[in-house]
Amino acid sequence: MILKILNEAETVLSEAETVLSEAEVQSTKKDMKLFDVYPLYDVEPVEAYDCTVIDKNGQEYLDLYGGHAVISIGHSHPHYVKKITKQLETIGFYSNAVQNSLQQQLAEKLGQLSGYNDYQLFLCSSGAEANENALKLASFHTGKARVVAFNNAFHGRTSAAVAATDNPKINAPLNQQQAVTFLPLNQLDLVKEELAKDDVCAVIVEPIQGVGGLDEGTTEFFKGLEALCKADGVVLILDEVQSGYGRSGKFFAHHHHGITPDIISIAKGMGNGFPIGGILIAPYIEASYGLLGTTFGGNHLACAAGLAVLEVIETEELIDNARLTGDYFIAQVAGLPGVKKVKGRGLMLGLEFEYEVGELRKKLIYDHHIFTGGAMNKKLLRILPPLIAGKKEIDQFITALKEVLAIEKVTG
Ligand SMILES: Cc1ncc(COP(=O)(O)O)c(C=O)c1O
Repeated sequence: MILKILNEAETVLSEAETVLSEAEVQSTKKDMKLFDVYPLYDVEPVEAYDCTVIDKNGQEYLDLYGGHAVISIGHSHPHYVKKITKQLETIGFYSNAVQNSLQQQLAEKLGQLSGYNDYQLFLCSSGAEANENALKLASFHTGKARVVAFNNAFHGRTSAAVAATDNPKINAPLNQQQAVTFLPLNQLDLVKEELAKDDVCAVIVEPIQGVGGLDEGTTEFFKGLEALCKADGVVLILDEVQSGYGRSGKFFAHHHHGITPDIISIAKGMGNGFPIGGILIAPYIEASYGLLGTTFGGNHLACAAGLAVLEVIETEELIDNARLTGDYFIAQVAGLPGVKKVKGRGLMLGLEFEYEVGELRKKLIYDHHIFTGGAMNKKLLRILPPLIAGKKEIDQFITALKEVLAIEKVTG
């Protein structure tokens, strides 16, 4: 009897095992899903050229967003495509353990166009990584750990960069362990108070806030920051990840204020879509083997992309174009109904409305086929086109915007 019961139990168990293994087989047949962190517009670009993006149905869109300020020289620029293709056919990647003269070529060209020939370049692959290395280097150099950053700042999502970003929603408990003090822009007395505590390694600031919503410090403020940092031996980091590479109408946006930071972080427009970032480091900060490092930073393909971008910026005079097109834009939007304020410089612009712009952005994209950007400030429409944009693109936008604003008072 006992034997029979045991036999039956064994049969039930082995059946269960069969069922389980079938379930396992089923689960391996399912498609892997994406980790769902991005709210997406219902558009799928499959092609692009200049300031135009084409979706999978063949619909053309005017790109006044530049894939979040990334497209600097225009989509699929022929010189860029040719240079990257040729590089890929020759050698696409090797590690930072061997010579790569493309890195030196890139450094020289960047020094020449930015005016920072005497600075040193460290290459990485994104904006967050650039700021992470900038902050780390400041801490190594000073032997201190606290950072001063500013209200509404965005510096990226890695450890120290996200800790210096003024958004508790994206700061995990792990990141909150870093010592960062946030201050309002334009209040030098508060900065002075913090630096006097003698535990600050770096002050990090965007010359024009991007994600935060286009606010910027005054020239007096930036000059004051420079003087305070110098006096207290604190490293001044200018985050030019978004505002750099000509977007503001000068090579770097801090050039509008006549200051010389100790470290400048760069990414976005640097590769026109190819992932590349870096930091420009003042000559007095010394390198040593192993101090910083990365697998992908400065690889052959990235350098080819970076060089092509600088060559096009120079030959097509895109910095002047950004300034002139920006001035034209500002003149055209003045007095439009609902526009409270025009912010920014060059082709890093924001239109602040009296209401939230979510609906307006949707109407522009779905009814008028124009990409624009949003910001932490929900009332701000961001304009970040490729630096080749001109009067024609601005006129197309103004016509569409006037139409949307005339039809109804759009609410967020
Ligand atoms: C000013 C600034 N710094 C840093 C970053 C982070 O760059 P990435 O997304 O390449 O890490 C951004 C991205 O929007 C930015 O605008």
